[in-house]
Amino acid sequence: MIGRLNHVAIATPSVAAAAAIYRDALGAAVSAPVDLPDHGVTVVFVTLDNTKIELLEPLGDASPIAPFLERNPSGGLHHVCYEVEDIRAAAAALAKTGARILGDGTPKIGAHGKPVLFIHPKDIGGVLTELEEV
Ligand code: CO
Repeated sequence: MIGRLNHVAIATPSVAAAAAIYRDALGAAVSAPVDLPDHGVTVVFVTLDNTKIELLEPLGDASPIAPFLERNPSGGLHHVCYEVEDIRAAAAALAKTGARILGDGTPKIGAHGKPVLFIHPKDIGGVLTELEEV
């Protein structure tokens, strides 16, 4: 059921500073910063051969990643995202195991315009985990 690793999201107080390391020291292809006001983040996409890294910086007063950066001021691993073919089937299978889906338990449209859900980190090895339907 689970497919490819779609992206790894890293929260940082400065996407510009984090992007510079990936671009200048590691030689990665790095996008310009993209503001996503509906999601409360500014994103830089780092494109790797087999996946993407999304560098996230808070945008606006109510950014969903602001509490994470308060706990981790220098930034850190925020979430991983795996691809699934049928997100409603994935949600149903997770619910059967007792794993908690954040929010009201139903998929939402994510930052890439596709249905996503997030699994509570305490129910999946301590890492916030996103599933995205592709
Ligand atoms: Co994500």
